[in-house]
Amino acid sequence: MSTSTSLPSGQAPDPASVDKERRNALIVTCAVGGVGVAAVAAPFLASLAPSERAKAAGAPVEVDLSSIAAGDKLVVEWRGLPVWILRRTPEMLQSIKQVDGEVADPKSLRTQYPTPEYARNEYRSIKPEFLIAVGVCTHLGCSPTGPVAAGASAALGNDPGFVCPCHGSTFDLAGRVFKNKPAPDNLPVPPHKYLSDAVVLIGDDSKA
Ligand code: FES
Repeated sequence: MSTSTSLPSGQAPDPASVDKERRNALIVTCAVGGVGVAAVAAPFLASLAPSERAKAAGAPVEVDLSSIAAGDKLVVEWRGLPVWILRRTPEMLQSIKQVDGEVADPKSLRTQYPTPEYARNEYRSIKPEFLIAVGVCTHLGCSPTGPVAAGASAALGNDPGFVCPCHGSTFDLAGRVFKNKPAPDNLPVPPHKYLSDAVVLIGDDSKA
């Protein structure tokens, strides 16, 4: 089954390039019961004029993180892309430290999919507890699976992480690609900022 979604090089993923039908099959907009996502409702979208619809489709998405259990991943849609929010446990964070020497770009310095400055760190996040990343492989655009537990995948071996089913790229729990894999870069981190301890806004990192 092909799950490829092309990502243009040198810039943020282009939502227009994403195969809508396939993506809809991948996205679970509320993977964790009770998690509130203040996204625009579809019927409302349908009632908007095309230009307003386009604007709404690119609008930031506000997400309540309080109901995501430790170790769980929530997927929301932003600009037509699946954005992962993984609430990492202390053990998950420790696993990231342990693979610093095994990932291709531990400090996220590569520029094909530039990591925002505030996420250019070992955990690739503002708050270590939460990974927020676009769940689209930087090789040819498949959607990796995971989080996969240590020892549960031959591709990852004894490390936990994410596995791309298309050509075997593997990523740690910070979305950093392991060395010698087809994916040229880490999983993209979308612009985002925290509105409070429990609410994050995806798609807007303005300081205003
Ligand atoms: S698309 Fe992920 S490894 Fe090729």
